[in-house]
Amino acid sequence: MDQIGIGLAGLGTVGAGVYKHLIQNRAIISERVGLELAVRRIAVRSVGLVRSVHAPAEIITSHWEELVDDPAIEIVVELIGGIDAAYQLIMRALDAGKVVVTGNKALLAERGFEIFEKAAEKGIPIFFEAAVAGGIPIIKSIREGFIGNHIESIHAILNGTSNYILSKMTEESLDFPEALRQAQAEGYAEADPTLDVNGWDAAHKAIILASLAYGFWIGTNQIHVAGIETVNGLDVRFADRLGYKIKLLATIRTNRDDLVEAHVHPTLVPKQHVLASVNGVFNALMVRGDLVGDTLFYGRGAGQDPTTSSVISDLAQAAIWYDSGGKAFGFTPHGWYGECLPIEQVSSGYYLRLSVIDAPGVLAQVASILGSHQIGISSVIQPEGHEGDAVPLVLIIHDAPFDRMRTAVQGIQSLDCVKAQPMLLWVLS
Ligand code: HSE
Repeated sequence: MDQIGIGLAGLGTVGAGVYKHLIQNRAIISERVGLELAVRRIAVRSVGLVRSVHAPAEIITSHWEELVDDPAIEIVVELIGGIDAAYQLIMRALDAGKVVVTGNKALLAERGFEIFEKAAEKGIPIFFEAAVAGGIPIIKSIREGFIGNHIESIHAILNGTSNYILSKMTEESLDFPEALRQAQAEGYAEADPTLDVNGWDAAHKAIILASLAYGFWIGTNQIHVAGIETVNGLDVRFADRLGYKIKLLATIRTNRDDLVEAHVHPTLVPKQHVLASVNGVFNALMVRGDLVGDTLFYGRGAGQDPTTSSVISDLAQAAIWYDSGGKAFGFTPHGWYGECLPIEQVSSGYYLRLSVIDAPGVLAQVASILGSHQIGISSVIQPEGHEGDAVPLVLIIHDAPFDRMRTAVQGIQSLDCVKAQPMLLWVLS
């Protein structure tokens, strides 16, 4: 059987999984692909490190340049993470005519335009299934399965760690720090979980999906991002009483004027919505195309084996592409021609939790400010229980543009009867 040479950059969690399973599942992979995927060289940061997989010492190097310069390597897999070295590696590999596979969502979100421009110039595809939603084959589905559709919307839970934390807060009434500790102990969170909980890991994935769905690169300054760090147990409980679950939700969609909306933030999802029942480390995406209608994808968004599954599927496609003489492979983002809808103009329903003094007329003052901004209230609860000399007041607000809602909240915050920073969350309608 003919062989395709692979250069593997990175032997961390995912790199080790890829190496191990290319060997363990060699027979079925070769049979299905019709080619043998042979790892010819592995680049690592420190050669002497003790690892969970044992590759022959003679194929290990600390210089990734050797992967690019090796004529026996046709596919370079970038799994080193980070931005600068990964960018250099991918650009050099494309220049050398190698097919590139990467799982680097931060790099694609930040420098995808340059990378795809280079790939287009060289006529070489990039495969990046592992960059979004771990083991769920969402990139291939959008790129190939939905190639004939206008994508109308994508609603997605894209960060396993956040979803795990919110699920623990909901089901076991854990507070945020304890739920995060458990996510780290389970190995779901990144070594530095900042990007997991501040929304940016999900935002990087949303940028990739949006760019794929709409064909132009959305800048990191064009996506509105908020994380789950500010969500507390009270919000989880009040949302539950009102019939919602809180999820870190990515929304990507077009409006009637073809402007693209892209935002990621904690969102109240009605309990009857299918995404409300996605718990733990699982990711899910609901994609609506004009031909296909609603589709649903569900699976593990983090962890060695699911991510390895995606990398190996990319390797198989890259090998077939190479072997068949390099024909186009689905749609890839290629321009700057689209436009984003500024977040200020995006309309949504909202959840507003206030901490107010318990006195007559308070609700009237709050309602008056909302009314003066033409914002309607859909429901109100004042749950029992005091927070010092204040009580919680929770409102669900009808659809309104975000800038108008934000201005109204600033007005409410300046009322004497409001005792703490208001909590404003979006509601999925
Ligand atoms: N740490 C990520 C998550 C997985 O929790 O979803 C890799 O993107």
